[in-house]
Amino acid sequence: MSVEKRRPTAGQQAAILPPEEVLFGRSEAMKQVRRRAAKIAGTGIPVLLYGPKGSGKEVLARWLHSHSAVSNGQFVKVNCAAIPGTLLESELFGFEKGAFTGAHATKPGRVELADHGTLFLDGVADLDLPSQSKLLQFLQDGRFSRIGDESERSVDARLICATDKDLGEEIAQGRFRLDLYYRINVVGLKLPPLRERREDIPLMAEHFLARCQEQFSVRPEPLSREALHYLQYTEWPGNIRELSNAIARYVVIGPEALMREDLERSAHSWPGPDKNEIVPLKSLCREAIRAGEKNIILAALRANRWNRRKAAQELKISYRLLIYKIRDAGLIPQKKGRTASRSKSEIGPAPSSKNWKD
Ligand SMILES: Nc1ncnc2c1ncn2[C@@H]1O[C@H](COP(=O)(O)OP(=O)(O)OP(=O)(O)O)[C@@H](O)[C@H]1O
Ligand SMILES: [Mg+2]
Repeated sequence: MSVEKRRPTAGQQAAILPPEEVLFGRSEAMKQVRRRAAKIAGTGIPVLLYGPKGSGKEVLARWLHSHSAVSNGQFVKVNCAAIPGTLLESELFGFEKGAFTGAHATKPGRVELADHGTLFLDGVADLDLPSQSKLLQFLQDGRFSRIGDESERSVDARLICATDKDLGEEIAQGRFRLDLYYRINVVGLKLPPLRERREDIPLMAEHFLARCQEQFSVRPEPLSREALHYLQYTEWPGNIRELSNAIARYVVIGPEALMREDLERSAHSWPGPDKNEIVPLKSLCREAIRAGEKNIILAALRANRWNRRKAAQELKISYRLLIYKIRDAGLIPQKKGRTASRSKSEIGPAPSSKNWKD
């Protein structure tokens, strides 16, 4: 199989994902995000995007920019976590030649570049307190000075901030200013984790498959029902980024790689309760046992090429008990109870009898 890279690497994709390729999906949570995003895109109102890593905050920020009145201006991203507090001021507001040692030439800051465009402050919760004060001052009236320059300048930029941290908690811990929070969070948009919008996974998977097919110039096998099923039931701690990487692996290496790696990851061991959390010991044992069982069951199924009877024999439990435990561990959808109340599209097709052997 020849693999030829035509487009930029996966790492560059976030920066160039064209707005028309942004998928919102059919889940209620994402429909709501889309409705809200469409309402606010053209208004210039400051937006705070929050949600876990890889959930699409930057993609949505770029979508908002491209649907805004300042779409002809620049989209200027500042990665707050990557810039040390001491350098942030010069990065944001720029400096004049000779303002400090090493300032060999005048350099405009990011804020200036974003004039009549969008200023995207990514990882805003990672700003230290002095940087937060400077940012707040600027946000009060859009005025600032370059370091080493007395004169005040003003810019008119659309502000979008993003974070994967819980800002309420950061404020409670004294790490984030409440007044800054009110400034940046005029409208908040929450990006849900992928595991809370499983019904969107098949659509996204097919989309990434088509994209990778073009990117790598290979003809992948269509996603089988079983593959789609597992994609829907994996935990996806890395959210959409991780899903898109998994599909890239599927395209380049083949279905085997996807199933094996995702199953192994889905059998993650239970991390245990939070350090400060007090839980009843009985439920602690129950959870630990369930997590351990899930790993062992998967190992037995793998070793027996998904033959459940053989796996049950090896595990020295009855076939019926194994079926029960497979369902209990969420390895296939339950027919009754929890998943029975979900729509068909949400639970996805049952694994075909060809794949599960008895
Ligand atoms: N709505 C979407 N439609 C299509 N692809 C998406 C969408 N959201 C995210 N992706 C894919 O997931 C990747 C990660 O998205 P993005 O960088 O926006 O996440 P993030 O929330 O900013 O993550 P982090 O918190 O790690 O910075 C993107 O490069 C893109 O490939
Ligand atoms: Mg991001």
